[in-house]
Amino acid sequence: MLKQFLSVDDVADPLKLVEEAVKFKVQPNAFRALGQHKSLALLFFNSSLRTRLSSQRAAQLLGMDHLLVDVASGWPLEFEDGATMDQDKSEHIREASAVIAQYCDFLGVRCFPTLKDRDHDYGEPILNALKKYADIPLINLESATRHPLQGLADMITIREHKKRDRPKVLLTWAPHPRALPQSVANSFAAWSLACKYDLTITHPEGYELDPTITYGATIEYDPYKAYEDADFVYAKNWSSYRDYGQIASIDKRWMVDVNKMKNTNDAHFMHCLPVRRNVIVQDEVINSAKSLVIQQAGNRTFSAATVLKNLLTS
Ligand code: CP
Repeated sequence: MLKQFLSVDDVADPLKLVEEAVKFKVQPNAFRALGQHKSLALLFFNSSLRTRLSSQRAAQLLGMDHLLVDVASGWPLEFEDGATMDQDKSEHIREASAVIAQYCDFLGVRCFPTLKDRDHDYGEPILNALKKYADIPLINLESATRHPLQGLADMITIREHKKRDRPKVLLTWAPHPRALPQSVANSFAAWSLACKYDLTITHPEGYELDPTITYGATIEYDPYKAYEDADFVYAKNWSSYRDYGQIASIDKRWMVDVNKMKNTNDAHFMHCLPVRRNVIVQDEVINSAKSLVIQQAGNRTFSAATVLKNLLTS
């Protein structure tokens, strides 16, 4: 029974959900009656290409109506209970959440972190306020600390391409000129561990992720060693969790390149996109037949559709 989808922790059996998504993909039109007369609102505090389109497509596959609320350009919302709203904040999350819930049965939300205050971001203030005041099932479209629909799509992709039951999955930090959230890396780690894959995470010192999320993974600071025998190489940049939101390194030696890929078990390359070419990954790697980035984006539809199907039937 899926009541909400905020992280992999909401899923009783992650591997079963992956299998269900693979089956959904074979019969994409089999459930078009399931969501009739139901509506999904998609609230975007930040920009999106894949999440926005794949969520809309997933709603279509289930026969649901969908409403888009795009406030990426800014919405001066007040989150503090008891605040005197005599400054720039024009609406309280309390009314905003309850009002949105009048117009839909399910609510998806994208809300990136501030990257300034770790306790604030890891407390997921926007998701929790919506949960408290909207009182309808919530779907995380990438929050301050998690991107579970991406994690599920990544597991579908690995399931479709793995050649051994317990593949070696490598999550590698890669350089980026801007400070990025940890959400994709957190969710990829959490989903890989929930699927019982052999997960190694490699990054420069200072880029350790939240140890409560990565518990069970091997941490390897030598990228050349980390690539050895990997079946999947998943590249992602994230800013420091320890020195929260800081860029501790932009060392180009961490870019995924042909040389390091030669150390692997003929590994597939993965990235959630959007990706900076020749910063995160060399052209030769992302352009190769082993690259799964487009398949991952395609699987976002079936990740969202399977989650919606479970919410509709709960
Ligand atoms: N991977 C991902 O979530 O892409 P968007 O930011 O385009 O939605």
